[in-house]
Amino acid sequence: MKIKVIHGPNLNLLGVREVNIYGPAKLEDINKNLEMVAKQNGFEIEFFQSNHEGDIVDAIQESLTDGTDGLIINPAALTHTSVSIRDAITAIQKPVVEVHMSNVAAREEFRHKSMISDVVTGNITGFGPLSYHLGLIAMMEILNQIKMAQAQQGQKQ
Ligand code: DQA
Repeated sequence: MKIKVIHGPNLNLLGVREVNIYGPAKLEDINKNLEMVAKQNGFEIEFFQSNHEGDIVDAIQESLTDGTDGLIINPAALTHTSVSIRDAITAIQKPVVEVHMSNVAAREEFRHKSMISDVVTGNITGFGPLSYHLGLIAMMEILNQIKMAQAQQGQKQ
């Protein structure tokens, strides 16, 4: 089964950007760790980062045809503004885990609102790079449960 991880604007600067908030890990380090854990558990994993809202919408939509079974997404600043990312998530009807490195509830008021929180399967916030790791664990569990349910369904038929 395949998991797609989508990183939003400015996350390409992790390790350089606001290290006091996001820590020293680079996006590449985070992706490497996710890749290792996914592979160890028999999952395929793919990564996408963009600073552009429309490209992120395209990447979400492509999940309909590229074999993606579940999405892990940190829309970064677009979390707080993007109706089009919300609509794309709703459109694909697949499990989605929303991830944030910082504890957005403890930051400026404009970060308290997420446009996607109520349309995703669940969210993990505030654990730095560990948020992604926990997001992956959750997604693998969700997909394993779906697979088991499908297998049981198949046996009944
Ligand atoms: C973020 C939180 C957002 O408010 C911010 O704009 C980001 C990163 C996080 O991972 O903590 O760029 O999504």
